[in-house]
Amino acid sequence: MCISCGRALCKEQTKKMPAILTIYVGEANMPKAVVVSEVLYQGVCKPQPEPIEMPELYQGGYAMSKIVSVHSFRGGTGKSNTTANLAALLAAKGHRVGVVDTDIASPGIHVLFGLTEDQMAHSLNDYLWGKCEIQETAHDVTANLGLRGEGKVYLVPASIRAGEIARVLREGYDVGLLNDGFHDLIQALHLDVLMIDTHPGLNEETLLSIAISDVLLIVLRPDQQDYQGTGVTVEVARRLDVPNMLLIVNKVPAAFAPAEVKARVERAYNAEVAGVLPHSEEMMVLASAGVFVTRFPDHPITAMLQEIAQRLGA
Ligand SMILES: Nc1ncnc2c1ncn2[C@@H]1O[C@H](COP(=O)(O)OP(=O)(O)OP(=O)(O)O)[C@@H](O)[C@H]1O
Ligand SMILES: [Mg+2]
Repeated sequence: MCISCGRALCKEQTKKMPAILTIYVGEANMPKAVVVSEVLYQGVCKPQPEPIEMPELYQGGYAMSKIVSVHSFRGGTGKSNTTANLAALLAAKGHRVGVVDTDIASPGIHVLFGLTEDQMAHSLNDYLWGKCEIQETAHDVTANLGLRGEGKVYLVPASIRAGEIARVLREGYDVGLLNDGFHDLIQALHLDVLMIDTHPGLNEETLLSIAISDVLLIVLRPDQQDYQGTGVTVEVARRLDVPNMLLIVNKVPAAFAPAEVKARVERAYNAEVAGVLPHSEEMMVLASAGVFVTRFPDHPITAMLQEIAQRLGA
C-alpha cells in the first residue's frame, strides 16, 4: 500500500522513501516526529518535500495559547500576581496580551498594573450592564510596565466602586455575555493571548473561564486546605475537558525541598507542576505595588515565571 495515496502497489511500482508518520509535542514543548526510513510508495504521486505547517492544529502548549485562566480554590494563593507577571513576560516577548479581572466581588489586579480608579474609563461591569463594548473597557497598561517593544498589555478591570460591586452581586449578570466579551476582545485587539484572573472558589464565571480555557493554571500553596480545594478544581477541569492544566505551587517555605513538593503534588493530582515558587520576602515587600518580574528581572522567581511563560507558547 502506498504511504502517500493509499493505492495498492505491485513490485515494479514500489519505491522506498523516508516518511514522517506523526508529529507531536513532547516534553518541554519540543516538537518531535516519528520517522520511518523506508516506507513504500508507488512513485507517481509527489509527496511534498517539506511538511506543511498547520499551526491551527495545535491546542495550547506549542502554539500560542489563546485563553489562559488562572484559578485557585482558596483565596490569596497568588493568582493576581501570577497573572500580572506572566502577562508582563509575554508582552516583553512581543505578544499582545489581554488581562481580564473577573474577580468582580473583590477586584485587585489593576493595582499591580498601576491603574487608579479615576483612570478606569470603563470597567467590566459597564460592559456586562450593556453600557459599552468590551474593547472600550480595555486599558493599555504597557507603559506602566516600562515595556517599549511590540508587545502590549491591555487590562479590563472590574469596578472598585462599592455600589457597583454590590449591584453586580445583588442582580447578577448574563455569564454568556462574559463569554462573548472574551472572544470579542481577542478579535478587536488582535490578542495573542487572553489571561483571565479569577475569583477564588467555584462560581458561574470561574466555571466558564475554566471551561473555555486552552490552558488552566491552578495556583496553590503547600497547605492542607489548598490541597483539598485543588482536588475539587482539578476534578472539575477534567470533567470540562480542559486541554492543558498546569499547577503552580506558590509561597513555598525555604524549609521545603522544591523537587519533593513537585513530586508529591504531581502524584496527588496526576497533573503536571509547572513551577514551585518560593515564599519571597521581596514579593511581600513589593506588596502588589508593581509587577515583580519588571522590578526584579534577575530574581530566581522571575526565571521560574519565565519558564512558565514559555510553556504558554511564547
Ligand atoms: N511567592 C510569593 N511570596 C510571597 N508573597 C507572595 C508570593 N506570591 C504572592 N504573594 C503575596 O500574596 C498576596 C496575595 O497575592 P495575590 O493577590 O496575587 O493572590 P490572589 O490569589 O490573587 O488573591 P485573591 O484570592 O484574594 O484574589 C499578595 O500580598 C502578594 O504580594
Ligand atoms: Mg486576586
